[in-house]
Parts: sequence; structure tokens; C-alpha cells
Amino acid sequence: MTHEPFEKNSIILLIGILIMVSIGGLVQIAPLFWIDSTIEKVSGMRPYSPLEQAGRNIYVREGCYLCHSQMIRTLRDEVERYGHYSLAAESMYDHPFQWGSKRTGPDLARVGGKYSDAWQREHLINPRAVVPESIMPSYPWLATTKLDYSKIVENMQTLNMVGVPYTQDMLAKAKVDLEAQANPDSAGVKDLLARYPKAKVGVFDGNAQEITELDAVIAYLQMLGTLVDFAKFDASGPNLR
Ligand code: HEC
Repeated sequence: MTHEPFEKNSIILLIGILIMVSIGGLVQIAPLFWIDSTIEKVSGMRPYSPLEQAGRNIYVREGCYLCHSQMIRTLRDEVERYGHYSLAAESMYDHPFQWGSKRTGPDLARVGGKYSDAWQREHLINPRAVVPESIMPSYPWLATTKLDYSKIVENMQTLNMVGVPYTQDMLAKAKVDLEAQANPDSAGVKDLLARYPKAKVGVFDGNAQEITELDAVIAYLQMLGTLVDFAKFDASGPNLR
């Protein structure tokens, strides 16, 4: 009966518990000191293009996160409805992150490419025009408000300070890239795509004359969840280190 002393003396039992819990704690915590990052390596992730970042700022300003999450959990019903569960790497450049905690509307983590630009435009101006039973608010001013991107470089520099890898080249060309993304005929599109692979280029708001807040929000929505190529992603190992 080697465990008899543990059962008869509470102090010895307590010491025994402490030793066991410490071993468990060490096994879980110690490896974190030797790995550089707990975010898995995934190919395809890049910082937001200037127009997408501007759209993201409007998304935050309008409080879209109060009704929409951007976080697909590893549960079967979520994966069947929204697609592959969200990876940590997919929000590594998000400041502030938009995971959200409320779903009055659907999750938007992979809404990119689900609808056409025209659908997104109609929907944001008046959701009931395309989804009659929708309770989402209308955002008609996005279409009529010129996008103010006078501070986009400062915005990107600030993100750079907290770890988003914008290069000097990206900062220097921020405004050119922003304008190119909203104009498919622009000569700058090739350079934009070299700096921000897979960026969607288009006259998102249907008005080629001016860049509006609607252009920015749609450019942002259309890239959500489209960067990682899941045909090449294998959660079982090669992407982890
Ligand atoms: C009061 C809650 C609420 C707010 C705030 C809200 N939405 Fe929604 N949203 C909904 C609901 C409900 C739906 C589902 C019905 C529909 O498609 O209109 C929806 C649907 C959507 C869809 C379609 C998703 C899909 O997969 O079908 C998009 C895109 C979207 N919202 C974007 C936005 C953006 C961008 C904002 C901020 C400018 C926003 N929403 C603000 C409630 C909201």
C-alpha cells in the first residue's frame, strides 16, 4: 500500500498534488519559451492593401463587428456553413482584430468572393433591396462620401510599429496603390498586385469618377478569407514548426 501515507496525511497529499500539477504545468508552459511564435506558418498571408485597410477602418467606425463575427470556430456546423475554420495566421495583421462576439448577421471571415461587387453595393446601400427580410441597417452615405485617405501612410506606419510588415516601398506607394485598386484601367495595377498578391481590383461602387467609402468597404469585404490557399494547407504538420 504505497499510497497509504497520502490517504492518511493531508499535508503529504497536498505536496503530492503540488508536484503533479507542477509537472502538468511545465509540460504545457515550458515549450512556449522555446518557440518564436504560436501562430502557424501559412503561405498567402500579406498585410492589407491601402484600400482594404481604409475599408477596414470604416468597418470598425460603423461598428459592423457589433453584428458580425470574423471567426469560424472548429465546429462542424460552422465549417459546413462558412468554410475552413479560421487560422491564427489569418488575423495576425489585424489591429484591432474583428473576431466579434455577436452574430446578429452571419460570420464574415470568408465572405470574400461570395457575392459580386454589385450585390455588395446594393446590399450596403439598402440591404432590403437584395435580402427582403434583412434587419441589417442601411449605409447609404458610404456611396456618397468621398474616401478620405490623406492619412493612409501614417495609418500604415502606425501598423508597422506594432508589427505589420509594410515595406518602405509599400509606404511610399500607398496612395498610388490605393487609387490603382479602385481603377482597373490604371497603369499601377501590375505593381499593386506585385505588392499585394490576390488584391481584388475594380470600380467597386460602380462610379469610376471618384473613390468613395463604399469602394474601400467592398474592397475589404471581397478579400476577407481569400488569401490562404486551403488546397495547399495541411493542418497536420508541415505548416507548423
Ligand atoms: C444590426 C446588425 C447589423 C449590423 C450593424 C451590420 N449588419 Fe451586416 N448583416 C446583418 C444581418 C441580419 C445580415 C443577414 C441578412 C442580410 O444579408 O442582409 C447581414 C448580412 C451581411 C452580409 C452578407 C453576409 C452573407 O454571407 O450573406 C454582409 C457582407 C454584411 N452584412 C456586411 C456588413 C457591413 C460591412 C456592416 C457595417 C457597415 C454590417 N454588415 C453591419 C446585420 C447587421
